[in-house]
Amino acid sequence: MPRKPFIAGNWKMSLATNEASQLAMSIASTCSDLSDRDVLIAPSFTALHAVADAIKGSDIILAGQNVCWEEQGAYTGEISPAMLRDLGCTSVIIGHSERRTLFGETDQLVNKRLTGALAHGINPILCVGETLEEREQNITFEVLEKQMRIGLDKVDENSAHHIVIAYEPVWAIGTGKTASNEQAQEVHAFLRQLLAQIYKKGLAASIRILYGGSVKPENIDSLMVQPDIDGALVGGAALNAQSFERIVKFK
Ligand code: 13P
Repeated sequence: MPRKPFIAGNWKMSLATNEASQLAMSIASTCSDLSDRDVLIAPSFTALHAVADAIKGSDIILAGQNVCWEEQGAYTGEISPAMLRDLGCTSVIIGHSERRTLFGETDQLVNKRLTGALAHGINPILCVGETLEEREQNITFEVLEKQMRIGLDKVDENSAHHIVIAYEPVWAIGTGKTASNEQAQEVHAFLRQLLAQIYKKGLAASIRILYGGSVKPENIDSLMVQPDIDGALVGGAALNAQSFERIVKFK
């Protein structure tokens, strides 16, 4: 079965509630009911409620930008899977490089969050990616393999098909430097092979792998042509309704 294209907007720590709500309404009016692709937005936690209202009745997927593995309790600053569900989220971004590099999240912590999300019926987008230093040291594949193997530890085949992988080279995020189509395809093919080792070939062939890092209207079409690129995780360009629409409607 062909993999359904998936375009996701990560709004990061941007937009006040009313701005988020307006952007969500624009996206719902132009990017909804496209049955041949999935569209997701991940606003900041504070805007989730307003955005859920703004996209009501559309098929836009609502996601959190992180999640705790526990149901409730003494976890100051964290949001539980049940809280995300309560706000209408069915998906969550986990292990974003900004969480890893700026907030010290380890592969083990990422795995806890991921298995916690799955246990509560929330579909994770697992982000992986190498830094510029790691790429220059030629250890890209090693780094990615470790992030994938630990990140997916204890995730069985039944759960794995709920997961989406996002490859986001750290050096391409917010820098205007996109990985070339060939660089991205090479890594995506590697990740799919790795999934085939961890799971079965058939399952690996069905898991969507998104590219993220300076995705724009100008580069989305050629990225989407690559055989193992199934979509995009978009940061900056997802904050503009027209740019995001153009990315969603890649050719
Ligand atoms: P940019 O598209 O702004 O480079 O951000 C990518 C990203 O980190 C999405 O999660």
